[in-house]
Amino acid sequence: MMGIYAMSGGATGIGAAIRERLCQDGHKVIVVDLNDGDICADLSEYAGRQRAIDGIRQLCPDGLDGFIPCAGVGPSVRPPSLIARINYFAAVALTEGVLDLLEMRKGRIVMIASNSAPMVEHNDYVDLLLDGKEEEACELADSRDTHSAYAGSKHAICCWLRRRSGEFARRGIRINGVAPGIVRTPLTDKVLDDKELGQAMRDFGDTVPLGSIGQPQQIAEMVNVLFGPAGEYMTGSLVFIDGGHDAMLRPDGF
Ligand SMILES: NC(=O)c1ccc[n+]([C@@H]2O[C@H](COP(=O)([O-])OP(=O)(O)OC[C@H]3O[C@@H](n4cnc5c(N)ncnc54)[C@H](O)[C@@H]3O)[C@@H](O)[C@H]2O)c1
Repeated sequence: MMGIYAMSGGATGIGAAIRERLCQDGHKVIVVDLNDGDICADLSEYAGRQRAIDGIRQLCPDGLDGFIPCAGVGPSVRPPSLIARINYFAAVALTEGVLDLLEMRKGRIVMIASNSAPMVEHNDYVDLLLDGKEEEACELADSRDTHSAYAGSKHAICCWLRRRSGEFARRGIRINGVAPGIVRTPLTDKVLDDKELGQAMRDFGDTVPLGSIGQPQQIAEMVNVLFGPAGEYMTGSLVFIDGGHDAMLRPDGF
């Protein structure tokens, strides 16, 4: 049956692959993105987030079968606070802003985390994110390195989705996350070009147990599975799609 989905970050990379996969099955997909979307909005700003929510509500008055807050920036972005604003605060604000639309159709949410999420401890920055203290979290992000800002933003996304999954379940909404490893996208290309981070990313890429970095379509396939019958009894789960990197780094961490 044709579904109605909304997502952020559907213009390029993993988001574009998710949009294409859903459209292949005949679903309608509304995209929020910086320039190339059905709704154009800068999600680093409060006003842009509100424009995105208002736009989705206008285009999908009968509810949503699915929502994917996929827009994100990588660790090469400066200042690092943009990572906190886009990867965490915008993802959470947009999801909160469409919850009633999801409730109307017993919709599902798939958050886009990262296998970098468990690479940082649950620290003070993660707590500020989860407490919704945007300006304080941004100040802290700008005082630290961008890898911590990035991994911390994804760590917080994982905690947020698990913390909220019980309440959402009672409203008939399922929420799960995917944790991609290194995937070939414009975001990854920017990190590879970065003077400080490029070599470390190349070295890390060389250690992927399955032998190569991922393709956006491989992430989109799993997102599609979570929206299908296999996702019916799943909520609060995090699926790693990373060529085995997380298992290699933390074999006993489950
Ligand atoms: N590529 C990877 O290796 C990788 C790994 C793990 C997780 N992820 C996550 O996957 C998601 C997609 O990343 P990608 O690699 O496809 O990157 P990408 O750069 O190809 O796509 C990101 C999308 O988000 C949009 N976006 C960025 N800033 C925005 C803003 N301020 N307002 C509105 N839209 C904005 C971009 O325009 C783009 O369409 C991100 O959340 C990223 O953190 C990526």
